[in-house]
Amino acid sequence: MKVSMEVNGRTVSGDIEGRTLLVDFLREGLHLTGTHVGCDTSQCGACTVHVDGAQVKACTMFAAEAEGAKVTTIEGVAAPDGTLSAVQQAFQDYHGLQCGFCTPGMVMAATSLLHDNPKPTEAEIRHHLDGNICRCTGYHNIIKAIMAASGQEMPALAAE
Ligand code: FES
Ligand code: FES
Repeated sequence: MKVSMEVNGRTVSGDIEGRTLLVDFLREGLHLTGTHVGCDTSQCGACTVHVDGAQVKACTMFAAEAEGAKVTTIEGVAAPDGTLSAVQQAFQDYHGLQCGFCTPGMVMAATSLLHDNPKPTEAEIRHHLDGNICRCTGYHNIIKAIMAASGQEMPALAAE
């Protein structure tokens, strides 16, 4: 079947099987490999993208369901000239990543959070990241980065 959608501002289309997941269409069909697959249980959040402005785990959606939608992946977050978004810059400045595997999903989730709630508390950030697993950083620097991206003072973070 044919599917067509807007991805990072560009109209794209492809021939897919009905069972093709959005994450596979993005990675294999469009070679947008910044969207990662970290599990097969819809738990890790490494595949997080935005579909029509909503945060979505791209492994939980068929590509066909995104027909006509506006999809943003991690590749579409920076400005066209390469300037990082505030969230991306803060992840860099506050060392919000180690291996980086979870980072695209974290950035997409954080971007969505700050869009809906520009000044989240630490507890709200932690709650929002519930569906995103980082296997190596212990989350502290990720939380710090999101607090910084929201322009807030860094609190003494609670112990994990
Ligand atoms: S790959 Fe989608 S939640 Fe893990
Ligand atoms: S930075 Fe390694 S899993 Fe998050």
